[in-house]
Amino acid sequence: MGEILKVDDIHVYYGSIHAVKGVSFEVNEGEVVTLIGANGAGKSTILNTVSGLLHPKTGSVVFEGRDLKGVAPHKIVEYGLAQVPEGRHIFQQMSVEENLQMGAYTQLNATVEPGIADVYERFPRLAERRRQIAGTLSGGEQQMLAMGRALMSRPKLLMLDEPSMGLAPILVEQIFDIIRELHSAGTTILLVEQNAQAALSVADRAYVLETGRISLTGTGAELMASDAVRKAYLGG
Ligand SMILES: Nc1ncnc2c1ncn2[C@@H]1O[C@H](COP(=O)(O)OP(=O)(O)O)[C@@H](O)[C@H]1O
Ligand SMILES: [Mg+2]
Repeated sequence: MGEILKVDDIHVYYGSIHAVKGVSFEVNEGEVVTLIGANGAGKSTILNTVSGLLHPKTGSVVFEGRDLKGVAPHKIVEYGLAQVPEGRHIFQQMSVEENLQMGAYTQLNATVEPGIADVYERFPRLAERRRQIAGTLSGGEQQMLAMGRALMSRPKLLMLDEPSMGLAPILVEQIFDIIRELHSAGTTILLVEQNAQAALSVADRAYVLETGRISLTGTGAELMASDAVRKAYLGG
């Protein structure tokens, strides 16, 4: 399995706030890798740095052997890296289908329709609601739409920022079932979550992030069994 993403010793600041303090990790082709950590640990800061929305003061982000330093976010999407942001950020006033079309802006016209068909196959719920205004969807459906929209760019690496946030347990389960299906279909995924239980259950490998630093790493199963992780993140 080839390495698709390599993050090396990144330091990220908001003004004088040192949010990410020397984080390194990698994602290999076909893997689901998760970064778990409490609110404020730096998870979103890391994803936003990988997707080019934030810039590390030092350290590097290399995607498929290409250093992303100074590369614009839309270019990074073209390279094959798509992010589903925390809070979903779908286009509330547009229909489901229009949201999906927006996700295809890096694609040639000819591939848009087949892309939409693929998304509807993966998310039958969205097919049923294709004409519905996105802002009127339930939280779980909005998450599916945000994921579908990201998949429209046919990413080589899909980054998900807290897909379970604000969802009822049954919907969390549905979203994680979809993550498992995407994994089986060969999609490479970088997932950040506060919901450690759910994230570790789908992850090949995992990193624990504490106040801007990685404190532990291992397979999903290893971390699920670790005393430190159980105590801090899995309720004992
Ligand atoms: N726009 C911002 N301005 C200043 N500080 C921020 C900003 N966004 C995040 N932070 C701070 O950076 C740290 C990491 O935040 P974040 O990456 O959002 O954490 P997480 O996604 O793990 O909850 C926190 O201390 C947070 O308060
Ligand atoms: Mg966050």
